[in-house]
Amino acid sequence: MQQTDKRTLIDKINKLKKEKNAIILAHCYQNVEVDEVADFVGDSLGLSQLAAKTDAKIIVFLGVTFMAETAKILSPDKKVLIPSLNAGCDMADMVNLEQLREFKAKYPNVPAVCYVNSTAEVKSEVDICCTSSNAINVVKSLNAKKVLFLPDENLGNWVAKNLPEVEIVTYNGCCPIHKSITTQEIKDLKQKYPNAKVLIHPECTAEVLALGDFIGSTTQIMKYIKDNNYNSYIIVTEKGVVDRLQRDYPQKEFILVSPKAYCPNMKRNCLEDVLRALENEEHEIFVDREIAKKALLPIERMVSTEKN
Ligand code: 13P
Ligand code: SF4
Repeated sequence: MQQTDKRTLIDKINKLKKEKNAIILAHCYQNVEVDEVADFVGDSLGLSQLAAKTDAKIIVFLGVTFMAETAKILSPDKKVLIPSLNAGCDMADMVNLEQLREFKAKYPNVPAVCYVNSTAEVKSEVDICCTSSNAINVVKSLNAKKVLFLPDENLGNWVAKNLPEVEIVTYNGCCPIHKSITTQEIKDLKQKYPNAKVLIHPECTAEVLALGDFIGSTTQIMKYIKDNNYNSYIIVTEKGVVDRLQRDYPQKEFILVSPKAYCPNMKRNCLEDVLRALENEEHEIFVDREIAKKALLPIERMVSTEKN
């Protein structure tokens, strides 16, 4: 796209945003160009917190469907728009209500913690939600001896490693993109870049996490780089994070662990889509009222754990 066309698009979006009292929230796996119009770019937790407190009338959500649904549940009176339909999440699709009920039935009276990467229906029947940045704190906050954790078994195992006093029963879901990263890929890169720090998202397998200098959510990875003075990093999460880091720290070196670290669903939105979404107020996200009412509680519990 030519620079002038891009500028025109950005100006149109910003004008419409003001006219319609809209806010644009973007996950940091999105195409980096959308940052030029986004009011906030961050991880799942930051996005949920913002969605809960904004007083804009319209939220344009640049992310995958479960994120937009979470925003709608937190702000039911606002219009929540997602520019590209069918931006699903493979992990969220790995557990449905029936499977959740079967899982819970095997462990009566054990509290269930659900990663926000899940459908609204599933959220509506768990005790509390979590994101990758607060999963340990959320599980700890329950003061329980045993906890069910779904859908991501890798995140659940990582929480278990950090909280040996709690027995964590994991569901067998995963993010296929993070799970596909191998220890060999990291070992090869470490050999090639011996001074690079290895920063890893906890959706990776335990064997991969064992090779990390730091484990954290996307925002936590970015904060680690801000707070430290190293020059070279191997980034073990989705490409969008590397694109933003390279833009923000051009003098530092960022190595994406593998070309497989690319989530196609997160890359559906470009500036043209954002403009169309605002112009036509499409595609509106709806969550069944009863389900939304029940799903609100575990999401609010998660958000309030952060305040404590
Ligand atoms: P964050 O919790 O770091 O936002 O990552 C979750 C994720 O995989 C989004 O799909
Ligand atoms: Fe889902 Fe994985 Fe894509 Fe995140 S990176 S949206 S968990 S498929």
